[in-house]
Amino acid sequence: MRVAVVGATGAVGREILKVFEQKDFPLSELRLYASPRSAGTKLPFKGEEIPVEVLPEGPLPVDIVLASAGGSLSKKLAPVWAEGGALVIDNSSAWRYDPEVPLVIPQINPEAARKHKGIIANPNCTTAILAMALWPLHRAFRATHVVVSTYQAASGAGAGGMQELLGGTRAFLEGKKPEAKVFQHPLPFNVIPHIDRFLENDYTREEMKVVWETQKIFDAPEMKISTTAVRIPTLRAHAEAATVLFERPVTPEAAREVLEKAPGVQVVDEPEKNRYPMPLTATGKWEVEVGRIRKNLAFENALDFFVVGDQLLRGAALNAVEIAELFL
Ligand code: A2P
Repeated sequence: MRVAVVGATGAVGREILKVFEQKDFPLSELRLYASPRSAGTKLPFKGEEIPVEVLPEGPLPVDIVLASAGGSLSKKLAPVWAEGGALVIDNSSAWRYDPEVPLVIPQINPEAARKHKGIIANPNCTTAILAMALWPLHRAFRATHVVVSTYQAASGAGAGGMQELLGGTRAFLEGKKPEAKVFQHPLPFNVIPHIDRFLENDYTREEMKVVWETQKIFDAPEMKISTTAVRIPTLRAHAEAATVLFERPVTPEAAREVLEKAPGVQVVDEPEKNRYPMPLTATGKWEVEVGRIRKNLAFENALDFFVVGDQLLRGAALNAVEIAELFL
């Protein structure tokens, strides 16, 4: 399979290369593209150095394009690549809400991928991480209402976000004022309840992505979902605290049993040993960690749980490569 990675020098692009290596993905050709800023750059892949090419305006000579170079670029070029004969797996939010474009998590709705018309969208990272735990519970017990608060890492804003956190932390410790160019406020030693822009209903677009995308992936437009999305000074794994109301009777034990068998999920729930999901333990893992599973005290037939996943992997690179695997 001839594959192009667009945005190869970015935080997600680099992870895509690592996932290809780790999976030993059958590639007959790998082309790497980025902006003119990266002209002359080479990226390591399987012991070789692959040159990064400046992205042309037209079609790309490959079978699959994995795009992680932002929404406006995907909006403009994904149709051009698709018309040129490539299947586009797009990591941006440009196509996710288009009814003609499947939004796919391979462990949940692989069949949707087959209905593509040249473009398949990869979900938002916060949605993807929540969905891995919520889907098996929904199938077993029918989730009706979901309230989720997120603790999102700097990597959600790309390589620049991670650099701003690291540089800002250094500056803060030296008694200087940290920069806030990528984020709206300095992130080190702070939490910021603002990701993406504010909408008319007072939610942010990031919060509404979880609502729109979960309903689309689960094919459950009736599911009621409310989110508070918060940026915190971690590097690359998002954490989410969820409260879920169910239609069918549920217990923490029954939920744990379902999650133990769910693909892409690791139950980490031994509070007596101080074992629960955390960004540091979930970093670099292909599974999302789920724990703190307990009966909610405020609502009937409801559970609380905590889910943590590597934002760059499950939320982006790994999911995108797994979509490509559906077409091998
Ligand atoms: P570059 O490194 O040359 O700027 P991140 O999400 O980590 O910020 O990464 C964004 C990725 O998208 C980078 O690889 C970046 O390349 C690439 N990119 C951004 N704008 C363009 C563009 N206009 N054409 C091609 N690649 C782009």
